[in-house]
Amino acid sequence: MKIKMKIFPKLPEKVQEELGHFELENFYREEERTPEYLATEKDKYFSTPKAWLLVFEENQIIGSLKLHKRNVKFNNKNVMLGGLGGVCVRRDKRRQGIAGVMIEKAMKILKEWECEVAYLCAHIEESGSLYPQAGFVSMKNPYTYFGQSGKLYEETNGFIAPVKSLDLFKKILNSEQKLHLGKGNW
Ligand SMILES: CC(C)(COP(=O)(O)OP(=O)(O)OC[C@H]1O[C@@H](n2cnc3c(N)ncnc32)[C@H](O)[C@@H]1OP(=O)(O)O)[C@@H](O)C(=O)NCCC(=O)NCCS
Repeated sequence: MKIKMKIFPKLPEKVQEELGHFELENFYREEERTPEYLATEKDKYFSTPKAWLLVFEENQIIGSLKLHKRNVKFNNKNVMLGGLGGVCVRRDKRRQGIAGVMIEKAMKILKEWECEVAYLCAHIEESGSLYPQAGFVSMKNPYTYFGQSGKLYEETNGFIAPVKSLDLFKKILNSEQKLHLGKGNW
């Protein structure tokens, strides 16, 4: 089987449509596929990615990851925050290392983009050591962000990793101050 990884700074309409179906089928569990749940998801995660990383097998999407970059303020200092979102692998292709390879590539791209720290949110029970293997550490403090509706969310499942700045990574991790992401949890 021929497996290819491609980076898209913009998604062609056809690929965008295919990705929508792929995510609905593979990112969400059946019980999550309700209009209410999906509307909340849309309110939380609404930023346009700076790039999409997709893995194809025989022209079908089998893996996806969204890459983000955003300047945020932390303790009155600018931090160039990189981010990973929507990490997803087709159900029948899991536990073969595909997400690990996508994350490794994503971290290289965030470095090329001069990001200082990378952030993502994840449930440890659904991803285990996947993110820790790539250098991510669970944040002890909650983080905040605005939803598309303007609602202020506060959540606790944040992970950060150093990219270009070990110092800023340590400061965010060890500070009592909550990281504010701005608009959207990616
Ligand atoms: C999470 C997900 C992306 C993992 O994709 P994957 O291609 O199966 O991951 P990998 O094969 O690269 O996993 C590498 C390692 O991460 C860990 N890992 C991956 N999935 C895990 C899971 N569900 N539970 C516990 N550990 C997991 C394991 O250590 C694994 O190594 P192993 O298979 O040798 O034990 C995939 O299960 C998925 O798409 N889930 C639904 C969407 C989702 O929850 N995404 C994460 C949102 S943050």
